[in-house]
Amino acid sequence: MTPSKRESKIHISHHAGEGGPFARLAEDVRKGLTKTPRELPPKYFYDARGAELFEQICELPEYYPTRTERALLEQIADDVVTSFRPTTLVEFGSGSSRKTRILLDAMTRARHLDLYVPIDVSEDMLRQTAYALGEDYAGLRVHGVIGDFEKPVELLPGGGCRLIVFLGGTIGNLTADDATRFLRNVARLLSPGDRFLLGTDLVKDVGLLERAYNDAAGVTAAFNRNILSVINRNLSANFDPNRFEHLAFYNREESRIEMHLVARESHQVSIDAIDLTVDFAKGESIRTEISCKYTRAMVEKMFAEAGLRLLRWDTDQDHLFALSLSDAVH
Ligand code: SAH
Ligand code: AVI
Repeated sequence: MTPSKRESKIHISHHAGEGGPFARLAEDVRKGLTKTPRELPPKYFYDARGAELFEQICELPEYYPTRTERALLEQIADDVVTSFRPTTLVEFGSGSSRKTRILLDAMTRARHLDLYVPIDVSEDMLRQTAYALGEDYAGLRVHGVIGDFEKPVELLPGGGCRLIVFLGGTIGNLTADDATRFLRNVARLLSPGDRFLLGTDLVKDVGLLERAYNDAAGVTAAFNRNILSVINRNLSANFDPNRFEHLAFYNREESRIEMHLVARESHQVSIDAIDLTVDFAKGESIRTEISCKYTRAMVEKMFAEAGLRLLRWDTDQDHLFALSLSDAVH
């Protein structure tokens, strides 16, 4: 295939109405760091280095979600795909799309694969992935969208059915209200005949959960601290990541892992681009991520609130992770 022909299959655009993934960084950082307790939105982890660190997390022995979800996808992909023969795969928070290849392969086997629409804030990763998939899947059109999946998207009209996916347990990084809002938007996007596949991490032994976010090699700690480097670079700030300790623990009442960065000593940080100085007391923390863990009942409740109907529920034998297939109640 000639380069020009190959390139015409790949299209990357910015989410309409958005000024790029970092457009609201200044506003979000000001809001998050001036409230009590302090917090930062987890979507800012994923600059090129953050996306790379997340890829390393996925390979860690302690981080069971990726390998468990991959095995589940391998088990059910053909069944799911042959049950409604989608031609388009839409994915929120697609990252490196590694596990997505299992679905793309199943769609190829069913001879219906036409279009893949990955949506992600991580621009470098999205571009690299789109071109790699274009190389590896003959005839596949890829329309990548750089943007925030929490902003409602309009999908391009296409022939045939769509499979919309949200993998990795990333829904757990949203608050309950934001998750319901997100799922309502998904329900709105689903035409009759379309399906939605959601990956959720499940409630389990606290030790296993906490080890997954406190790996021995310290990759999760580096991923956590990376958010400070993102702020330094984009907002001319002077965070010293080494003055913050990585803290991740399971909050039972909220059914979620929380990740924090805790000041090791009292100190001041300047964020020049927004003219803000922040005084950290020793032991004061910034909450950088929540990662909610679900039961089947919790997923069914979220679906009911969003207008989604659970069609199938698959979990591994240890009940670590689940995949839920649904359609919209029209
Ligand atoms: N789906 C992949 C990647 C999960 S990591 C997997 O299962 O392994 C979470 C991904 O979601 C990252 O690629 C990150 O850049 C993206 N992401 C996080 N918040 C986002 C947001 N608000 N809008 C769009 N993408 C987001
Ligand atoms: C992307 N998301 C589902 C991951 C999680 O487990 O919540 C992000 C992550 N944070 C620390 N490790 C992995």
